[in-house]
Amino acid sequence: TKNIPCLITIFGATGDLSHRKLFPSIFHLYQQNQLNENIAIIGVGRRDWTTDKFRSEIKSSVEKHVQDTDKLDEFMEHVFYQSHDVSDASSYQDLLEFSEDLDSKFKLDGNRLFYLAMAPQFFGTVTDFLKSSGLTKTKGFKRLIIEKPFGNDLASAEELNKQIRRSFKEEEIFRIDHYLGKDMVQNIEVLRFANAMFEPLWNNKYISNVQVTSSEILGVEDRGGYYENSGALKDMFQNHMLQMVALLAMEPPISLNSEDVRNEKVKVLRSIRPLDESEVKQNFVRGQYDRGKIEGEEVKSYREEDKVAEDSNTPTFVAGKLLIDNFRWAGVPFFIRTGKRMKKKGIQVIVEFKEVPMNLYYQRDNQLESNLLVINIQPNEGLSLHLNAKKHVQGIETEPVQLSYSMSAQDKMNTVDAYENLIYDCLKGDSTNFTHWEELKATWKYVDIIQNVWDDDKAPFPNYRAGTNGPIKSQLLLSVDGFKWWDDIN
Ligand code: BG6
Repeated sequence: TKNIPCLITIFGATGDLSHRKLFPSIFHLYQQNQLNENIAIIGVGRRDWTTDKFRSEIKSSVEKHVQDTDKLDEFMEHVFYQSHDVSDASSYQDLLEFSEDLDSKFKLDGNRLFYLAMAPQFFGTVTDFLKSSGLTKTKGFKRLIIEKPFGNDLASAEELNKQIRRSFKEEEIFRIDHYLGKDMVQNIEVLRFANAMFEPLWNNKYISNVQVTSSEILGVEDRGGYYENSGALKDMFQNHMLQMVALLAMEPPISLNSEDVRNEKVKVLRSIRPLDESEVKQNFVRGQYDRGKIEGEEVKSYREEDKVAEDSNTPTFVAGKLLIDNFRWAGVPFFIRTGKRMKKKGIQVIVEFKEVPMNLYYQRDNQLESNLLVINIQPNEGLSLHLNAKKHVQGIETEPVQLSYSMSAQDKMNTVDAYENLIYDCLKGDSTNFTHWEELKATWKYVDIIQNVWDDDKAPFPNYRAGTNGPIKSQLLLSVDGFKWWDDIN
């Protein structure tokens, strides 16, 4: 499907996300002819700006983020601004009139997409007003995209969901998890289900453990206020990390339609073994960064960051061992790790296979290496398969070899960002790569247990130096089972 007419209304349009991700992505869709002249975007924000002012701001940020800006001026004619007070009914009346004008001017068929790129405490207010003002009463589709965090625990997520559901049905709600828009995350499914050679081995008979890492070198930047109440567990683990686990571990869906995929994801998320207090202490490690060096530069500790308490108990690192109680995965640990101010930026999945039943080459003093399937998600995008092969010398000696596939630089330049995939999916009405309420429920349930144990127990923070792989204890998490993190592998 191409060229879906739509009015996109972005709340929080003067914010960082909108400049860095949303407008560059929407522009790129336009430039590629995936959107045509039947499109209009209203940026809504508190600031008292005019459309001209907004256009010039947006234009300069698009220029910063997209290399080829052919058609940018033409695109800007579809962009508008309205200054708006989210808790004032008359603002929504103005917005309604403006929307109707644009609808007839650009022939938008009454299709409306509302994008809430703002703090979640306003979600309920905004969606209530969208309904009471008549903005959601339209002859076309109405859809809502919301950004995380979706709640702070299960109870608050339920409350938030209740508020939003007063105005939008579940199938009209698109909850963004931008990891699901990343090409290599989407590739996990393709790799598993479009190849004959992995799926037969994809179980506890042949896989010894699975490792999923997302490490960042950045600290909390200027987000200390938000991050203090969130931390690595809620900021990354509850959403991005568990979503990747679901894609790696789910059963093959009966089709690729969103309901079939989601059913499998929910099923596997619900099979993650719940923890009791002592298991949390044993299977989960939390960390917080101390001062250290990042790319040769001294950086502050987390507690010294802006808007962070001097005795903060917020983790900037979490590593955990998950067990999935089903026939496929019983006994296979999934080791998950994410942290800020670590050694390098990288998102990577490693599937480690079990050893061959016996090593025939042992007598010649040959250690065989574990076979690994490495999925590089970022910054490198590609795959590699680590095997043992005969050395190219006389006699039988083995050596590790590697088969690699890497996305070409050309491909990279053409994919702006995960957001582009996701916005387009939403326009098509495809919610496969968004988080369904049932997935949220399952993940919050699991995460709440961990958070509760941690809340009651002050951690010995800080416990890792900036620029390292996190606290030593996260190594022990694997070594007790005879494994290690495969750091520095590609
Ligand atoms: C966001 C988190 O969801 O993901 C940030 O709120 C984090 O704290 C970011 O930095 C990481 O995303 P990516 O795509 O750079 O791995």
